[in-house]
Amino acid sequence: MKEKIYEGKAKILYTGPEEDQLIQYFKDDATAFNAQKKGSFKDKGYLNNIISEHLMLYLKQNNIATHFIKRLNDREQLIKKLDMIPVEFIVRNIAAGSLCKRLGIKEGTKLQDDTGKPLIEFCLKDDSLNDPLIGETHIEFFEYMTRSEIKGVKLLLEIINRRLSEKFNSIDVILVDYKLEFGNDGSKFLPLLADEICPDTCRLWDKETGEILDKDRFRKDLGGETEAYQEIARRFGLI
Ligand code: C5P
Repeated sequence: MKEKIYEGKAKILYTGPEEDQLIQYFKDDATAFNAQKKGSFKDKGYLNNIISEHLMLYLKQNNIATHFIKRLNDREQLIKKLDMIPVEFIVRNIAAGSLCKRLGIKEGTKLQDDTGKPLIEFCLKDDSLNDPLIGETHIEFFEYMTRSEIKGVKLLLEIINRRLSEKFNSIDVILVDYKLEFGNDGSKFLPLLADEICPDTCRLWDKETGEILDKDRFRKDLGGETEAYQEIARRFGLI
């Protein structure tokens, strides 16, 4: 019998069939602004599940280690149980969202440098504190990660960003920004990519029209959330 071990805003984690595995369940619930705005929309969990599966498998083909083992059904994935790093990694190719508010940067400003490196930000993963922005000095000082882990993850983020940007470009979508999480499985190697990659955790703009195809539709009360997530799944050939 699977046992619930954690319920988050958009996902539930259950014990898995093996000691070192978990089952990740995708809910239809949507929250924004650290759960000050709550709702849900049809098929969100299903669409995030299949889109995240597709992107995790794609990264695996590109030699990025992830927690993903296999999709079990419309709502659930089998994943590796990891010791999660309590940091959210925000990767920004184009200015949008909180960065614009915080620093007064114009939305749409290109943030990649000449070598294609994006702007990377770190937030402490703590809802009770509103996931505050932190620097590498905090990560090292409070031992959320070692110096060499930070270096390793930053390198991974650059590779992942190149691959994911190409992948979205192939379906005429601009990968504006996104959030990633990592965890360790006890091996000495680099941390593994965990959590999910889907329209809940990415900003995705249509390359031609600029149409928003992600959770900003919910945040900004634009409507058409299910249709936008379906559009991403459809362009990837998943539905
Ligand atoms: O809100 P902000 O502009 O900082 O978000 C940057 C990116 O990270 C967005 O794509 C957003 O969806 C994602 N994010 C997330 N979970 C968070 C914070 C941000 O998926 N807790």
